[in-house]
Amino acid sequence: MSNQIEVIKAGVDYYPEHWDRSIWESDIELMLKSGVKVVRLAEFAWSRLEPTEGKYDFEWLDDIISRLTKAKLEIILGTPTSCPPVWMYRKYEEVRHTEKSGLKTATGIRGHRCWESPVFLKFSQKIISQMAKRYATNSNIIAWQLDNELESNSCNCDNCTSAFREHLKKKFNGDIKKLNLAYGLDVWSGEYSNFDEIITPIGAQYKPGWLNPSYMLEHARWASESTAKFVDFQIATIRKEIPKAFITTNSCFTAHTPDFHKIFDRLNVAAYDNYPSLYKAEDGYPNADRGFILDWVRGLKDDNFWLLEQVGGSFGCWAPISPAPKPSMMDGYAWQAVGHGANLIMFFRWRTATKGAEMFCHGLLEHHGIPGRRFNEFAKFCTELNALEIPTDTVIKSDVALLYSSEQDFAFRVQEMSAGFTYRKQVELLHSAFRGIGVNVDVINESADIGKYKVVLLPTHFVSDDLVATKLEKFVSDGGTVVITNRSGVKDKHGACLMHKLPGDFAKICCVTVAEYDAIGEDTVPLIVGDKKYTASTWNDILELCGAKAYAIYDGEYYKGQVAASKNFFGKGTAYYLGTVGDMAFYRDLAIEISSDTKITHDITIPKGLDVITRNKGKTKYTFIFNNSYTECEYKRMTFKPFESKVIIL
Ligand code: GAL
Repeated sequence: MSNQIEVIKAGVDYYPEHWDRSIWESDIELMLKSGVKVVRLAEFAWSRLEPTEGKYDFEWLDDIISRLTKAKLEIILGTPTSCPPVWMYRKYEEVRHTEKSGLKTATGIRGHRCWESPVFLKFSQKIISQMAKRYATNSNIIAWQLDNELESNSCNCDNCTSAFREHLKKKFNGDIKKLNLAYGLDVWSGEYSNFDEIITPIGAQYKPGWLNPSYMLEHARWASESTAKFVDFQIATIRKEIPKAFITTNSCFTAHTPDFHKIFDRLNVAAYDNYPSLYKAEDGYPNADRGFILDWVRGLKDDNFWLLEQVGGSFGCWAPISPAPKPSMMDGYAWQAVGHGANLIMFFRWRTATKGAEMFCHGLLEHHGIPGRRFNEFAKFCTELNALEIPTDTVIKSDVALLYSSEQDFAFRVQEMSAGFTYRKQVELLHSAFRGIGVNVDVINESADIGKYKVVLLPTHFVSDDLVATKLEKFVSDGGTVVITNRSGVKDKHGACLMHKLPGDFAKICCVTVAEYDAIGEDTVPLIVGDKKYTASTWNDILELCGAKAYAIYDGEYYKGQVAASKNFFGKGTAYYLGTVGDMAFYRDLAIEISSDTKITHDITIPKGLDVITRNKGKTKYTFIFNNSYTECEYKRMTFKPFESKVIIL
């Protein structure tokens, strides 16, 4: 059994506290009829569970849990810590999150608590313990979800300031001079006399790029660790009552994404909230290539995963209402997720709210509650999924690993390199080039073992880590192929620039150095590989070869004729260095060359937008094909209507 369940299942996120009890029973009947197996409850219900300080009301939760249990629907129970009740804020000011402006976040929103506050932790501990004690013996509760969409700690209150200072003290063994030196705080007279002078990045001047990047990088690390500590606290609280509790949390990508590799190391299964964009991109294709995200989630624990929220309708709340999911998108995106390793797909949400901020974040059922097109697609998905009984221990085999690092993401977030240059973009370009020709890619942590792969992609290793360089050197010597991209080897672990020629530690395996660079941002320069023409943009390293062969040449600018990318044979393997950001065709052709050279099975006939991926168990292969496009396409003599998906079992 993998991930707690034996066969892949579908479920729904349900908020019984928002509805009159008279409709609970018919909701459950409809869930059963549509093939739902799991229901998530309670992650925002604190005010209904503890209406006044210390007075708990579990009657309604007991009631719905017992009805779901009777119906043999399994349950995921959320800890409600994302939304503490208003009475707590009024009485205990310190539980409120403090904004960058220094002002306290107003009540009425969610996620506005500070988990460095001892008062907040005391109340959290009590409510979580109450829930865990009460439901400890209910075997129908298959898992616990911690909080909701945890982000790195962005609070700036006194408790957070103290915690950040402690973190820095520990890092620099209490020696403030070492910190001043490491961060270069003599620049702009920023030196501290003692740790108590340090504050979190707060104030009107706050803007990445204006504040010291080393300090900002360390703050990002602390903020992520603070979240991990909160996760540890919740796990310990639940496990005190239920030692074997199966625990996860619903992650998502935001501007404050913490290091989820570290967070899920502590949890039983990686989980994600999957909301593919419902907008069209400029090229006329969907904006959403969820393949990357899904592979990233699978890489968090190097295992299959759960989706605790899956798009159930058009969004609307923090932004104008999005377009509706087009016909077949509802089940198409769900099948795509299954293909990439999802073992449980929980749709958000069962009913569309009639009240509150999210009344237009559409659920499966409209406001009137009568099943319509979206609901029918969802029910069709559930029925087909249940009929297939796909084992959860089916695995995706990959020859290509993409090394992902939150550390690099943090460093990029606090200091922009050139217009449009983000860590995520670099990562996705390499990922989609291989996925476009049907090659599986494991998106794994930079520190993970790479021995079993044929090809390793290392996008933008900005903050150096000797272990990564040493690992890659061995990997290439032993016959592996690596692709390393620009802005690698730039900084030391404190975020200061290293005084070496780039790409630093990687110059040895790549046999190339960067003579100069041109941060062209959204401008473009023609690029040539052999007799093929492409476009370079974003960031152009001008390379000097010291043993490597030229792979790509600039055909414009003052560096026309100079090297943009190189290829080097080192030991028994090959190292590519990409000094520029090419267009998609450039990456695709590179992926084809590498896959051919390393004898990785690939398929250049896959039409654009079609996602083809296989899960294996023994000799059985489950292949999932999803047409993520607005146009019909043909593949292997099969026709795929827009957003149509097929499952082929061999
Ligand atoms: C998710 C969140 C849900 C709900 C949903 C709306 O990010 O976890 O609680 O807000 O978005 O689309």
